[in-house]
Parts: sequence; structure tokens; C-alpha cells
Amino acid sequence: MALDSTTEKLSKLGIDGDLAASAPNLQKNIHLLSPQQIELAKILLETGQSHLFQHWAEPGVDDEEKKAFFEQVTRLNSSYPGGLASYIKTAKELLADSKAGRNPFDGFTPSVPKGEVLTFGDDNFINFEDAGIREAHKAAFVLVAGGLGERLGYNGIKVALPRETTTGTCFLQHYIESILALQDASCKLTQGKCQAKIPFVIMTSDDTHSRTLQLLEANSYFGMEPTQVKLLKQEKVACLNDNDARLALDPHNKYRIQTKPHGHGDVHSLLYSSGLLNSWHDAGFRWVLFFQDTNGLLFNAIPAALGVSAAKQYHVNSLAVPRKAKEAIGGITRLTHADGRTMVINVEYNQLDPLLRATGHADGDVNCETGYSPFPGNINQLILELGPYIEELTKTGGSIKEFVNPKYKDASKTSFKSSTRLECMMQDYPQTLPPTARVGFTVMDAWLAYAPVKNNPEDAAKVPKGNPYHSATSGEMAIYRANSLILRKAGVKVADPVVQVFNGQEVEVWPCIAWKPKWALTFANVKKKVGGSCCISQRSTMVIKGRNVFVEDLSLDGALLIDAIDHAEVRIGGSIQNKGWTIENVDYKDTSVPEELRIRGFRINKIEQLEKNYSEPGKFSLKP
Ligand code: UTP
Repeated sequence: MALDSTTEKLSKLGIDGDLAASAPNLQKNIHLLSPQQIELAKILLETGQSHLFQHWAEPGVDDEEKKAFFEQVTRLNSSYPGGLASYIKTAKELLADSKAGRNPFDGFTPSVPKGEVLTFGDDNFINFEDAGIREAHKAAFVLVAGGLGERLGYNGIKVALPRETTTGTCFLQHYIESILALQDASCKLTQGKCQAKIPFVIMTSDDTHSRTLQLLEANSYFGMEPTQVKLLKQEKVACLNDNDARLALDPHNKYRIQTKPHGHGDVHSLLYSSGLLNSWHDAGFRWVLFFQDTNGLLFNAIPAALGVSAAKQYHVNSLAVPRKAKEAIGGITRLTHADGRTMVINVEYNQLDPLLRATGHADGDVNCETGYSPFPGNINQLILELGPYIEELTKTGGSIKEFVNPKYKDASKTSFKSSTRLECMMQDYPQTLPPTARVGFTVMDAWLAYAPVKNNPEDAAKVPKGNPYHSATSGEMAIYRANSLILRKAGVKVADPVVQVFNGQEVEVWPCIAWKPKWALTFANVKKKVGGSCCISQRSTMVIKGRNVFVEDLSLDGALLIDAIDHAEVRIGGSIQNKGWTIENVDYKDTSVPEELRIRGFRINKIEQLEKNYSEPGKFSLKP
């Protein structure tokens, strides 16, 4: 195509001569593009992206790659609210703020917001759990599972990792079984006046989508009806090379823009555009619960927290744990601006201290008389009331205030060590809410509610003493500790733990106790299922897989495994002693050991156990 007629064609499409001249190689190849793609080319040129075409070959060479480039641009444009022009404009503004060192919360004064602080096992806690179970059939669950997990460095997807290796149940199975148990319990309590099925959405990304789907399909959705589960895939966003927000080319392919994840904040726009929220609302659902990929304790906190949401009529309820001052976890904070704006929001730990100092708290982020920071620690599990959520998203389309975090080469802040991108976080949703919105939090003990698996063994071993490791080692040990402490509170004499070191991390080793969510979802359930005088030694293992298994006057010193169908009522007691299961150290670097075990630094050696399966309905007793 002659250059003159191309310029003419471009001009007809609104691309003026100067603009076209800034990208002569694009001009030469313009005949390859559809009218919509030419519109996108115009946007790119107008936003200063002509460098993307500098290396484009003569027509006839790499034509398929050039077309593929524009297909990618089309995807990047359509998956971002406001399109690429808006992305680049926001990027320029945020990069300028970052260069100038502006704090996004400048002008705001922090104070401690109002919320509920719960004590596990007291009457208040039990009442909230009961209220939560009543509400559960009106809840939809959303798991954000699109993250790469770079810090953990595991080769598979995180939700496929065993939550604990005594039963080998993976996180996704545990989450699904917990939701199904909530569904059943809620339906029973409301005498059948319940929604049909609890919806479960999983947000995936290109990094996790196919493996998540495979895991579900290979395991018959872990007992959930496939129609209950919906996967929403988030798209990545374009990387930025410099403060002018010039897009980065993929180092492996000069006809592609480099992309990186945009963060879990995408979940709001994806839910909104999927149409699911309105369909849930029409079907009578009232709550949306958001949670993350590797917190094996979360469902210990869900019933009570949902009860708090219902009782306090919170539009937004953030689950939180007590936070030590300066601990690397965000603080839930009320921010009030001189101009009257106010919000209750997560403030990252590295922003909280300077913000406090700048607003008259000379000591910054310090503990109060409780020994903890007065700002609760955000664990990023949110409960939103569906009606107000839809109302807000109708205004915002689900777009969440973004941030940029470039790693600069030097103090001049002119160039980056590697390309950056805009990111957004799920917990920043309340930033745009009106002051009338009811935003609160629910604090529970970390031992009960929070033990994520985020760090690889080497990094975990470097965590300063007293701070949580958040590793595969601590994540599994936290399950046994929580279950032991719950049983203790219910009256079982559970022996004290011993301290052992795995992968360089010192952890408490409690008896390895695990149960299926359908056995007990709440503390009241646990209390109903254990009775008399029970004791469990430190070296013991106990696994309960049946719904109607009752533990009475049991003395356990060894391994006991009970599996029973729902219609088998099994009573277990007496003295059970055997060689049991032991925990053996494994070396993180020993590649002959499966990765799931190596990252824990231990494996379970199954020496001797009492194992009983009850597959027929009826009443049974096991009292050796
Ligand atoms: P993390 O903070 O654990 O981030 O995400 P990550 O990306 O998974 O891990 P690192 O930072 O690379 O080590 C918290 C939750 O948000 C999800 C994760 O899957 C996890 O459940 N997430 C994160 C997304 O769904 N999308 C994202 O773009 C990022």
C-alpha cells in the first residue's frame, strides 16, 4: 500500500499526519488492521506509545505476529474499565505521585474504628456462631485464587496443597466441604426455608485457571454440584517501563506487551460484569464472603463473623486478628479528612506508622495497654452485604483505587529496575463508600482464624523470632494447635505440645487432630460431640470423618481414624493405645521427597493405628 493513501486512510480515521508520522512502521502495516484495531492504534499513539512499533518489520514479514499484537491490545483494552487510555492516564498520575513521594492518605487523620472483639468459646461467641449459621444459606462465597504465589515458590497451584498431611485434604477440598457443611447446617436450622445451594465463585488467572479447573474435575468438584461453582478468570494488565507510562514489550516477544497480575482487587469488577451479583440478589441471597487461597483456619471464624455482620448490619465486615505494633500486617483504621471525608480502611503497616507520626502521635505505631496495637490486623477476609455492594458497584463498575510500586534504580527516581504495573487490592473496596456506610470489623484470635501459607522455607526461617512464619510448616501445625485448643475448651484434656524445628522454624507440635467440617462447624457442635472425661496424649493422631461420631470418655495414646457415613451413629470411648504415627524431619533440599512435603520439612510416618469405617446405617459403639 502506498504511503500517501495510507496517510489518507489514517486521516479519515482521525489519525492526523503528525501522529501517523510518529510511527512510520505502523503506517506501513496499517492494512493488516481492522477499523476497531486502527482505533486502538490511535489511542496508543495519542498516549505516547509509538515506541511499540519502532521495530515493526516491513509488510509481509511477521504479519501474523503483528495481528496477534493487536489481538492482545484488544483484550487489554476491553478487560480494563475505561480501556487502555484510562489505564495509561491513571498510570501517569500514580507514577508522578510515587516519584514525588506523596502518601495516598495525606491529609487524613487516623483513629481506631468501631468493631467486635470476640473471645472464642464464650456465650457471646456461641450466639454469634448460631446467628451466622442461620444466615449462611443466604451467603455466596468468593475465593480469590489468581495469585502466582511467588513468595511460596511452589510449582503447583496453592489451593491444591494439602491443608494438613494427616488426611492429605487439599485447601480447595476443605473449602468446598466447609461450604457444603454450612449449607446443610443452615438449611436444618431454618427448617428448610433456605436458598437452594450456596454459590461458590473462584477467581483464577492465566497462571491458575486450567489447573484449578482440572483439580475440580478430577475430583468431581469435591462433592459440590458443578453448577454451584463458577470460575471467573482475571486478565493481567500491561507493564510500564518509565514515569511516562510507556508500555513495556515482552522480553521474549517484541510483538507482545509484557503483562503482570493486577491484584485481587479485580474480583469486584469481574463479579459485577459477570451479572452474578444481581442474579444472587434476585434469588434472595444477602451476603458475599471473600477469602484467600491458603488460610486453613478461616472457616473456624466464618460462622461467628457472619453472625456479627447480621447482628450489626455491617455493609462491610473485615475479619481481623490482634496486631502487634509494627507487625507486617495492615491495620484496620478510620481515616478522617479535614474536608469531611471519612472511611474505614486497611492501612498498610509501612504507611500507618508515618501517618500516625504526622498526625500528632509522636511514637507512631505502638502497642496499647493490651500489649497489642489498637488497630486490628487485617487478614483480608471480607463479608459484604449484597444489596449495598450492588448499589456501590453500579456507581463504580467495580473499579478499585489502584496503586503503583516501582522499584527505582536510584534516588533520581527516573528509571525502574524492572517494569512495573498498576495494582489493586480487594480490601480497598470501602475507599469509595459514602460516610453512611456501615463498615466494621470482627477480631478473633490468630490461633483460631489465621494461618496462611505464603512464605518459602528459606524466607520463613529468616522471620524474626516471635513473628508468624506463614509457611507450609506453620500452616499445618496451626491446624493441629487450633483443633487441640478447641477440644480443650470443650473439656478434653489435650496434652501440652512439644517444640520442634522443621526447615529452620521452631514450632509447637500438638497432637495431630483433624476432622471433616461436617463433624463440627461451630464450637456448639464440638461440645455436643465430645463428652465425659477424654484425654489425648501429645504423640496422638485423631481423624474424624463422620457426621454423627461422638467421642465419650476416650483415652487416646496413639492413632485413631474413624470414617462413617451420615446415617451411622458411632460412639467412641475407652482406652486406645498403639504405636501411632510419628513426625519425621525431611530435608528441604532433598528433591527425592515430594515438594508438598519438602516445603513443610516433615512427613508423617504411619506406624500403627486403629482405623474403623462404618459404611452401613445404624448405631455403633467402639469402646475397647
Ligand atoms: P497474596 O498476597 O498471597 O499474593 O494474595 P500472591 O500473588 O498469591 O503471592 P505472592 O505475592 O506472589 O507471593 C492474596 C490472595 O489473593 C489472590 C491470591 O491467590 C491469594 O488468594 N490473588 C493475588 C489473586 O487472586 N489475584 C492476584 O492478582 C493476586
